[in-house]
Amino acid sequence: TGLLAMFYIYMRRTRRRNEPPLDRGRIPWLGHALEFKNDAAQFLTRMKQNHGDIFTVCVAGNYVTVLLDSNCYDAVLADTHSLDLTPYAQLLMERIFSLHLPNHDPVSEKKRVALYFKEPNLSQICISMQKNLHFLMTSEITQETAEWKKDKLFSFCYTLLFKAGYLTLFGTANNNSATLTEVYEEFRQFDKLLVKLARQTLPRDERRIASSAQERLWELLCPAYLIKGAEAQSWLQTYLVQLEQLGLDTNMQQRAMLFQLWVTQCNAGPAAFWMLGFLLTHPEALRAVREELQGLKHPLSKRENTPVFNSALNETLRLTAAALIVREVMYDKMVRLSSGQEHLLRRGDRLCIFPFLSPQMDPQIHHEPEVFKFDRFLNADGTEKQDFFKEGLRMRYGNMPWGTGSNLCPGRHFAVSALKHFVFMILTRFHLELCDGNANMPVVDTSRYGFGILHPAGDLEIRFKPREFTTR
Ligand code: HEM
Repeated sequence: TGLLAMFYIYMRRTRRRNEPPLDRGRIPWLGHALEFKNDAAQFLTRMKQNHGDIFTVCVAGNYVTVLLDSNCYDAVLADTHSLDLTPYAQLLMERIFSLHLPNHDPVSEKKRVALYFKEPNLSQICISMQKNLHFLMTSEITQETAEWKKDKLFSFCYTLLFKAGYLTLFGTANNNSATLTEVYEEFRQFDKLLVKLARQTLPRDERRIASSAQERLWELLCPAYLIKGAEAQSWLQTYLVQLEQLGLDTNMQQRAMLFQLWVTQCNAGPAAFWMLGFLLTHPEALRAVREELQGLKHPLSKRENTPVFNSALNETLRLTAAALIVREVMYDKMVRLSSGQEHLLRRGDRLCIFPFLSPQMDPQIHHEPEVFKFDRFLNADGTEKQDFFKEGLRMRYGNMPWGTGSNLCPGRHFAVSALKHFVFMILTRFHLELCDGNANMPVVDTSRYGFGILHPAGDLEIRFKPREFTTR
């Protein structure tokens, strides 16, 4: 009867007047779930070619309307009455982090977070991050000899940015190098399996690995242990106060901490990998960025204007930032596309917006969108390029790596500052090169579309040595 019920649900759905094109896929109930899971970008590109900028697909029993007209994202998302972000966010928190936050108020939580990442605090945490990066580069990767040292670029970048970010936001007097390494190693175990946790497709042996990493991280992030050494007004402190106000027990507090650890640390490391990888495989880009950064008088100051670096970072994020914005449709809602066409979203369905496909990879907005061009976000006069067009129409956004509306990343200024300093320090303090000068960028792990910055399916072998030894 279960199968029959599934078949019935699947067959019952028909397209109503004004609704977007409906594509149920060939497999009852599952619909397009497998294609979505294996490579959401490829699948949605195909759907867009077949149906246009809005369509509804069946994915594992859910009907999901996908909207890919980036000029109307903000207007649609502004209707928070009809489109609620909470149910899907809670579903993921539960599946990935086994976390329930009763009395959780996402609006006041977002205000707290936004305040934390604003001045005067922003400057303080940016400086703290620089000091931590400096400390780690000195203690972890600078060696006593002038020999080349080999590594893989992805773990090289992720380790440094994770550890520095952890010290900045979660650091306490109790941190030592061994704990820091353990937190990173466990975090990576968990991070590798996170997509399968979200989709509930973990085989039993991997479920065991995920649970053990999770439990160890809960211990390592234990609030009672941490709060003693935590700095007053740190991210950690303010968050723990908030959790106590919600009335959460210690166990739930630990789970919430892991969630925050992931939200704040999962993107910067992979972004640094793509940025350095693109620079190493595009010598003209590396030359331009190096020249600009070396020419800075006060590299540590926020006031420094770095249009070339910004353009190369924007271009990196355009190609690799792939978060999905998901809403539950609470009431039937009419959506107006920029063409003037109107479509009805059906109550009970999900709405899904994927900025990675549009505007970021839209060939009508970006010429050769799959190619890295470090100066794509630069005007001829060297200023930042903000105007992008599609069929003569000016686009609201040429890039949307930080999300939009209530999904806008509150940590974006902090992240840009951290990435700039990371690249600056690596380029000025080290000789860094590819082991194989002809190596190409690895392809992306296509299962991770929808989960922030993509991960590579392979890696790049690098070698590096401190600059100062060569000048002696
Ligand atoms: C949320 C992107 C780095 C803190 C988000 C979201 C995006 C994003 C797209 C919205 C996700 C959603 O609401 O579904 C990025 C990118 C980064 C980056 C591309 C780096 C290149 C950081 C860093 C921090 C941070 C370094 C903090 C230290 C946050 C927080 C949220 C968020 C607190 C809110 C999550 C929530 O509302 O539940 N980020 N982020 N992000 N990000 Fe970032």
